[in-house]
Amino acid sequence: MDPVLQIKDLKVEVDTGTAVHSVLDGVTLTLRRGQTLAVVGESGCGKSMTALSAMGLLPDRFRIAAGQILLGEEDLVQVRPQRLRALRGNAMSMIFQEPMTSLNPVLTVERQIAEVVELHQDKTGAQAREIALEMLRAVQIPSPETRLAAYPHELSGGMRQRVMIAIALACRPRVIIADEPTTALDVTVQAQIFRLLRELQMQTDTAIMLITHDMGAVAEMADEVAVLYAGKCIEAGPAAQLLAAPAHPYTSGLMACTPKLRLGRAALTAPARGLGEIPGMVPPLGQFPPACRFAPRCARATEKCHATPPETVRLGPDHETLCWHPNEAREAAPAC
Ligand SMILES: Nc1ncnc2c1ncn2[C@@H]1O[C@H](COP(=O)(O)OP(=O)(O)O)[C@@H](O)[C@H]1O
Ligand SMILES: [Mg+2]
Repeated sequence: MDPVLQIKDLKVEVDTGTAVHSVLDGVTLTLRRGQTLAVVGESGCGKSMTALSAMGLLPDRFRIAAGQILLGEEDLVQVRPQRLRALRGNAMSMIFQEPMTSLNPVLTVERQIAEVVELHQDKTGAQAREIALEMLRAVQIPSPETRLAAYPHELSGGMRQRVMIAIALACRPRVIIADEPTTALDVTVQAQIFRLLRELQMQTDTAIMLITHDMGAVAEMADEVAVLYAGKCIEAGPAAQLLAAPAHPYTSGLMACTPKLRLGRAALTAPARGLGEIPGMVPPLGQFPPACRFAPRCARATEKCHATPPETVRLGPDHETLCWHPNEAREAAPAC
C-alpha cells in the first residue's frame, strides 16, 4: 500500500528555560493508505508529541530539531505555518481523547461541522449544512436532523466523540490521527467507536494513526504497530507478527498488562509468562538512561544494556526492534 504519511528520524526538543531536553529521538513511522498504524507505549513516552509534530501543533517551547514529516511529497517540517493551517482539518485531521475540550461549547453541532467545510472547501451555507447532515449520518448518530441543532453538553460522551469523528472526516482527509480516542468512554462505547472508525476507513481509504495504550484495541484495529518508549521507537512491525511474537521485553510487558487480549484481526493469545505490570516508571525528560532507556526496568538487562545504546535488530522484512536481547522469534500466528 502507498505510504501517505512518513515520519523520518524525527527529533523533538523542549526548552524548559533552564535546559533543552530531548523529547523524541529519531522516531520513524509510516502510515499507508487505508491502513491503521497503532502507536503504543505508556503515558509520557512521546505518543502525543509525535502526533502533534505531524499536525504542526506542538506546544510552546517544543520544537522539531531534525527529521522529515512527508505528507505525500510535501515535508511538513519545512512548510510555512499558513500551509499547515490549510492542510489541518483538510488533508489531515486529529481526533482527541476528550471531545468536550476540543468541541466548542457555544456552537451547535451543525456549525462546528459546517465551519470546517466552509474554511477548506468552496461551499455555501446550505451546502455545508447538507454535508453536516451527511456526516452525522455517516457516524451513525440517531435522528441526525434533530442533532444538528444540539450543543455539545446535550450529547453523551460517545455521541460527542462521533461528532468529533464527523468533523475530522468532513473534508475527507488522507490521514486521521486519533489520540487515545476512546479512553474517556466506557468499554461498550469504545468498541462501537472502533467499529465505526473501521467501517469509515473501509469506505474512505483513510490512513489512521491510532494512539493508544490499550493492546486489545491494537489487536482489533491495527495493521502495523510502533512501540514508543522514552522518545524512541523500540519496536515496529506488522500487527499480526508483533503481537504474536513481540521481540522487545517492553512490548511483551505491555501485552502482559492487558489481562485478556480480545481476539481481533490479528488472532493472538496472551503471552504465556505471567500477567502483571512493568516495574518502575517511564523516566521524565532530561533523565533518560544513557544506553538502553528501558534497561533500568528490564528483567533481561545486562551490563551491555546499561553501557551501550542498542542497535536495530531485524526480525522480518518490516519487523525490527532496538534491543540487545530480543525475545526469540516464535512462529507468527496466521492472520485471520
Ligand atoms: N506541555 C508540556 N510541557 C512540558 N512537558 C510536556 C508537556 N506535554 C508533555 N510533556 C512531556 O513530554 C514527554 C512526552 O509526552 P507525550 O507525548 O504527551 O506522551 P504520551 O502521549 O505518550 O503520554 C513526557 O515526558 C511529558 O511529560
Ligand atoms: Mg498522550
